[in-house]
Amino acid sequence: MNPATHSERITRIVDDLAEHGWSRQRLFASQALTLELAAECHKQSAQGALTRAGTGRGSGQQVREGVRGDHIQWLEPGQAVCCDQYLQLLNELRLALNQHLYLGLEDFESHFALYPPGAFYQKHVDRFRDDDRRAVSTVLYLNPEWLAEQGGALRLYLRDGSCQELLPEAGTLVVFLSADMPHEVLPATRERLSLTGWFRRRAAMPL
Ligand code: OGA
Ligand code: MN
Repeated sequence: MNPATHSERITRIVDDLAEHGWSRQRLFASQALTLELAAECHKQSAQGALTRAGTGRGSGQQVREGVRGDHIQWLEPGQAVCCDQYLQLLNELRLALNQHLYLGLEDFESHFALYPPGAFYQKHVDRFRDDDRRAVSTVLYLNPEWLAEQGGALRLYLRDGSCQELLPEAGTLVVFLSADMPHEVLPATRERLSLTGWFRRRAAMPL
């Protein structure tokens, strides 16, 4: 069987989201692009550009050791060619979600995340209590040759009461609805890199 094309992968994500509220696509990003993204994340980390992630937003933001242990850097368009290629791939997905599921996704925000060995992110929901613009969450993993015994799975708590554990394997994109999918990141025995992002809708107009 031929490997799926990029547009076939996008179609599967759209169908999975409509049916189950989540999707995993292996090889969403090529091996070359994933390696470049991992190198860019390491470069930024070496330059001290990653900061301890907080929870909440705006002035309500706090760093709480027991909740999440990752270090992040928000992406800016134009920061690196590989980052712009990633943003382009995700923009194609945004347009497909709008075309087929009428989600009205207006923009995309995304950050590198580096979890040192032992770091985790406790069970949470991505949509903020005071801001409901985040509609669809995405995570692209950047870790070559990840083994199950190294831990670090993303555990999704599904609508039917079951759990799904997904390994952070290089090139794999996980997509899920931000509002109603609790999830957590389990600790790993090695460093764990990803690009986490959110497609956002327009802010609701105050009445
Ligand atoms: C997050 C998150 C999941 C992952 O950053 O909100 O849940 O697998 N990340 O990195
Ligand atoms: Mn999350």
